[in-house]
Parts: sequence; structure tokens; C-alpha cells
Amino acid sequence: MIIDIRQRAIEVLENNWKDYFTIPCEGLYPFQWNWDSGFIALGWMHIDLERAFTEITSLLSGQWANGFIPHIIFHNDSDTYFPGPEIQASHVSIHAPVIPTSGITQPPVLGFVLGELYAFAKADSRTLLFLKKVYDAIYNYHHYFYTHRDPHGEGLVYICHNWESGTDNSPVWDSIWDTMDSPAYDLKRKDNLHIAASHRPSNREYQHYIHLIELFKEWKYDDALITEKSPFLVQDPLFNAMLIASNESLIQIGEILGKNDQVAQLKTWNTLSRKTYNDKLYNKELKGYIYYDLRNDRPINHISSSSFTALFAGIPDQERASEIVSNFEKGSFSGPNDEYFLCSSFNPVSIHFDPKRYWRGPVWINLNWLIYRGLKRYEKEKLAETIKKDTLYFMNTYGFYEYFDPRKTVDAGLTKGYGGANFSWSAALTLDLILNT
Ligand code: SER
Repeated sequence: MIIDIRQRAIEVLENNWKDYFTIPCEGLYPFQWNWDSGFIALGWMHIDLERAFTEITSLLSGQWANGFIPHIIFHNDSDTYFPGPEIQASHVSIHAPVIPTSGITQPPVLGFVLGELYAFAKADSRTLLFLKKVYDAIYNYHHYFYTHRDPHGEGLVYICHNWESGTDNSPVWDSIWDTMDSPAYDLKRKDNLHIAASHRPSNREYQHYIHLIELFKEWKYDDALITEKSPFLVQDPLFNAMLIASNESLIQIGEILGKNDQVAQLKTWNTLSRKTYNDKLYNKELKGYIYYDLRNDRPINHISSSSFTALFAGIPDQERASEIVSNFEKGSFSGPNDEYFLCSSFNPVSIHFDPKRYWRGPVWINLNWLIYRGLKRYEKEKLAETIKKDTLYFMNTYGFYEYFDPRKTVDAGLTKGYGGANFSWSAALTLDLILNT
């Protein structure tokens, strides 16, 4: 069984490999995506270390002069995706490179991916050379965040678009859409040509997504203007947990490479980030980390799978970690009778929970991988094994889909997962779950 799933995972990655980068999935996502590539590199690491390095180097070829790394790099042409390079129009920014990219980013996983590569392959002489080559670029990415996206100097950085969260249509954003009066654009969406519309964001949500992009282009992707005016400005628990975990790895690797000034700066940033994350984002009643709407100066009191990624970054103390995992022990995310596979992307007891619709309920493998590693970090071995078992169950039963229905009650009637099939990070992280012991 293990051998078989391993072979199938390798085939998915091989088929999605496009000479020097990996697409998340044919048709639906035909370019290079930022955090996808980070997770995908963790799969390549087990098959072909050079490809893991190349994946990251290709992503960095889209880095802007101010350190920003976009969420999509358009290395290639494709007419199967909307919005493509002509809508995203990175060239309006003075910082953008020649290669077309988007003008928004995604959760900053690259730092901890370097940490994973180092842990796995430090004995290989190519590893240190690679880390030396890319370290400054990824440090500059973090420098960009702390100097452009933390207007109050709190140590928490904002996202200015739901696509930056990685959790595109989470119900968390609904209260922000209510504050916006986006035009009723007639959008030529392509995602619904590949995937059932009921499993994707609504048309109204897409109008908000595109409206934000239109505003940013009008402001030439200028961060000061975005900070001043964007209707979407949120401190997100997943995004900041990835930043903190990545800071940690950059500190570790920086010490090995003798990057003393950068290490000192990263330590200062990370101490403040951890403190504010704990002070500002924790909700004791919900037993989890929530979101803060910086534009409207109010907390968004929802917990989602993003809330639990704080465990991955070692943010809570042991007592708080135990409080958090009670959500998985016959709590709201497991159900009182264990009726849900872990881990739903949104709280199953909420009226907004939708088990089929993208980030409004389904299980995602990258979040499961992060939570699994977080549980291990806090020595919650039994729960860690449960989430690993649930993840591999989906992969073995249905294949490497993009997302999965968390309800055990409907499971017997299902024949496949949801969203894109042969999805790269589902394959890559399955490999890591199986092989990285
Ligand atoms: N995930 C987004 C999409 O669905 C883009 O980042 O297109």
C-alpha cells in the first residue's frame, strides 16, 4: 500500500513538472504559485534534491526589487486560468521584474522550507551551497513584510487580499465583503469550467477579489497607498504563523552561514511577533487564535484550520496548546461523536460551514501537514497520528485531490475528492508524511 501511494505521488509531481517549476494542477492552476512551490519542494526533496532547489530558484526569479515575492509567477502562457497576467498587470509597479507576476503574495513558507531542506539534506554538499545562494532573497522578503506591512510596528503583518491568506473564500472574509460596494463586473471566470461552481467561490465573491486588484493597480501596487486605503487589511493567524516559523528557520540557518546582522534583526522581529500574536489574536472563549481586521479596527471572532497553525510555529505555551487541541478532542472540529475527519477548514458548528465549498469547510492537505507537525512539536502524539491517518485515508481512498469532505457520515457515498485532481501539494506532502519520520 505504502509503496503504491508513493509511486502515484511521484507520478503526479513528474506530470506537473514543467522543466524548471511545478504547476499545482493541470488546467485549474497552470502557472507557478508561491506557497504551493514551497510545499512542492518538500515533496521533490524526497525524490530529487536538485528539483527542490530549482523549484525555489524559479520562484525567486519573480521577486520584486523591494523584496516582495508574488503569489503567481507567469513563466509560461496559458489560457485556462482567470485572472491571468494581463489582469494582474505587475508592470504598473516600479518594483516589478520583467517576468510577469501577480502583485499580491501568499503565506511566507519559504523560510521554513529552507529549514526542512537543511534538516533533511544537510549531509549533501549541495545543500549549504544552495542555502547560501537563496538566503538573502528570503531574508529580504521578510524585511519587506516588517517594513511595509506592519503600520503600527506591532510585529504582526497584514494581508491586503483574501488570496494572500491562501484560504480564499473562508467565511472569515464575509464581514469584510459587507463593507465593500464592488462593481458587478461581468467576469469571464475559468475555474468553474474545470470545477463545479458549488465547490468554488461565488460570483459575488469574485467581484470583490477583482475589485481589490483593480484598486491596487490604480495605486500602482504602492504599499503606502494600500496601507492607507485598502478596504481589506487583515492580520491573519496562518500568514503570521508562517512568518514566525520561517523567521525561526532563517535564524537557525543564518547562524550556520554567519549572517550575524540578519540573525539579530530576525530575533528582534520574532520576539515581538510572538508576543503580539499571543496577546492580540487569542480568543479564550473559542479556544483558538482569531483574525484582526486592521482596516475596521475589530477582531474577527472565528476559528478555522488557520488558527491551529500557531502550533507549527511554537507560538502558544504548553497550557494554551492543550486548550487549543481540545477542539480536536470531541470538540467543535472533531464533533462530539467524532463525526468529522480532521481538519475542517472552517468550524463545523458554524452556520457558515459548507463541507464542499473550497475553504468554507473541506479538509486541505497542506493545513493538515502543518497541524500534524504542530501537534508533534507539542508532543500531542495521539492527535498527530489521527490527523496523519485521516490524511492518508483520503489519499488512499480518493487520490491526490485538492480538498476533501470532512463528514464521515457522507464518506461511504463518495467516490472522489473535490477541486483539482492530481494536485501537486497533496502528492508532495503525502510523500513527506510517509517518508520523513
Ligand atoms: N487560489 C486562487 C485561485 O483559486 C489564486 O491564488 O485562483
